[in-house]
Amino acid sequence: MAAQNIKPLRDVNIGKYDELSTRERIVLDIDGKEVGVYFEAGEIRAWLNVCPHGGGPVCQGQIMPRTVQDVRPGGKSGGLGHHPTERNIVCPWHGYEFGILSGEHPIKGDVKLIPVAVRVVDGDVVLSV
Ligand code: FES
Repeated sequence: MAAQNIKPLRDVNIGKYDELSTRERIVLDIDGKEVGVYFEAGEIRAWLNVCPHGGGPVCQGQIMPRTVQDVRPGGKSGGLGHHPTERNIVCPWHGYEFGILSGEHPIKGDVKLIPVAVRVVDGDVVLSV
């Protein structure tokens, strides 16, 4: 087996949670790796800014409510609507959508954003990259 060049993770303090969480998203360049940090429904997620579909800058895409198909009694379509709470990131290259909190494509379960570990330590937001 060939030796692998794996760098150990290091913690990067990106700022105060109280200040950052007033924004829905920030995109940072950390040592040449772009990371999108999302503040959604009281939770934090961080995703690598590389779309699993084709490598696009997914974290710079629009944030939209998840589209849902309303089905009325009897199975008739009520048309398209939006989920009341769940929101997606829409990749700007080809429109693939990913749940902000799950990182998952709504249909293709094997197509997911790449997570970056993020946590709050003493009021600061810390990424492990
Ligand atoms: S590169 Fe993101 S949808 Fe194609």
